[in-house]
Amino acid sequence: MANVTRKIGLSLGADICWPGCYEEIVKRLNLTIPVGGDSVSFAVDRVTIEPFDLRQPVHYDVVIDRLTHWYHTTREWIKKAVIMDSLYVLNNPWSLQSMEKHTSYAAMMHLGVPVPDTWMVPPKDYSPDLNDLKPTLQRYGRLFDLTKVGEQLGYPVFMKPYDGGAWVGVTKINDAEQLRTAYEQSGQRVMHVQKAVNPFDLFVRAIGIGPQVWCVKYDPDAPLHSRYEVAFNYVSADEWQRLTDLCLTINSFFQWEFNSCESLRKDGVFYPIDFANACPDFQVTSLHFHFPIMVKNMIKWSIYCAATKREFRRNLNWDPYYAVVKKDLPFDDRLKEYAKIAHERFETDRFVEFCDRHLGHIDEVAWEFFGSERAKELFRLKVTALFPAHEVEQFTEHYFGLVQFWRKTEVERMNTAKVQRDERNTSREVAAAAVAASCSADKKAKAAG
Ligand SMILES: Nc1ncnc2c1ncn2[C@@H]1O[C@H](COP(=O)(O)OP(=O)(O)O)[C@@H](O)[C@H]1O
Ligand SMILES: [Mg+2]
Repeated sequence: MANVTRKIGLSLGADICWPGCYEEIVKRLNLTIPVGGDSVSFAVDRVTIEPFDLRQPVHYDVVIDRLTHWYHTTREWIKKAVIMDSLYVLNNPWSLQSMEKHTSYAAMMHLGVPVPDTWMVPPKDYSPDLNDLKPTLQRYGRLFDLTKVGEQLGYPVFMKPYDGGAWVGVTKINDAEQLRTAYEQSGQRVMHVQKAVNPFDLFVRAIGIGPQVWCVKYDPDAPLHSRYEVAFNYVSADEWQRLTDLCLTINSFFQWEFNSCESLRKDGVFYPIDFANACPDFQVTSLHFHFPIMVKNMIKWSIYCAATKREFRRNLNWDPYYAVVKKDLPFDDRLKEYAKIAHERFETDRFVEFCDRHLGHIDEVAWEFFGSERAKELFRLKVTALFPAHEVEQFTEHYFGLVQFWRKTEVERMNTAKVQRDERNTSREVAAAAVAASCSADKKAKAAG
């Protein structure tokens, strides 16, 4: 049995709290996992930025990346490493670079998802140094009446960049006058005009990490530190399942293994409005109660990928989803079929078994850690980066307090989870024993015959 170390790299931007927690918990897990005859342990470090020779090998097995969408040197280093060095990365850098909100809308509309009606409009202004602009627009630009788009959709509508994020350039519009003003102000950006889900009675963010999805009730009008709500039983089990399946469909379709899918509920239907968020919030200052769950999910998935040397899919292959579309099933049945593809791609069964066998102690380890002074110190560092000095103490206590509340609720969940895990492990052992028995019966029969 060889001793092997798998290397996990954290490619970070302004992230402070989650990497610290990730590193601490992985250290405390003290993992040595038997995989295919090897004894595998894990080393975590932070990816640095420096010149690189394209032929210089990259020694990471897995990189959790937070920079691809805006820091191109790291993105290109990651691409080279996937192509040349078998790196596994969350998320797929090509898909992230080329599939904006617009593509995600189009794809999910094609799959039958009730994305609100959306139009794209050409930009209001252009860069003056576009040489071919004048003849192009003179020949092919059709004069259009924007207010007709507004009327066709029906107010209120939202105007927002086709590739946007972080609420930049997003305007709610109630009439033709406001639509014109918003368009005037949009400048050179290419915009969508989208029918508002109005009124909605629930806003949910479903956050997927590999095959794991955690749904959080969200209030877009609350102050930044309390938008993610601490709420229980705000959806039925069936709704939770549908939100989960939708998130997994999107994430497996685009190979975004860490992504947040925003949906609004109106008259019992969930309308997804923003689901190209492949660098989602991962800070204790926004996630608070939900933060430990995200950190654990990230550890489980990245350790699984590193330990098993999960292969990075080199192409997206949308054909299986398109084949489902062709069957013309009712939406709920389609969604189940998309989710089945997602579970195959995310190897859900194998992942659950891996966690049951090798990461059974993560709940206890994380529970201990999130009550520690070290965790509080990491929270304080993040709070210090975001809040004025006189609020640092108050908000550190605020976030730490919410995480202590999570620990209280977690005790009960951990007990149930342990019983379920033991049951799954027992039934796997029973199944394995039955297979072994039938093999030996076969052998005996062959020997006798
Ligand atoms: N179609 C819509 N109906 C209702 N609210 C919307 C709609 N589109 C956007 N919003 C509101 O605007 C916010 C920002 O829009 P979103 O599409 O999420 O853009 P971003 O990618 O910048 O987060 C959403 O969180 C939501 O509150
Ligand atoms: Mg959004």
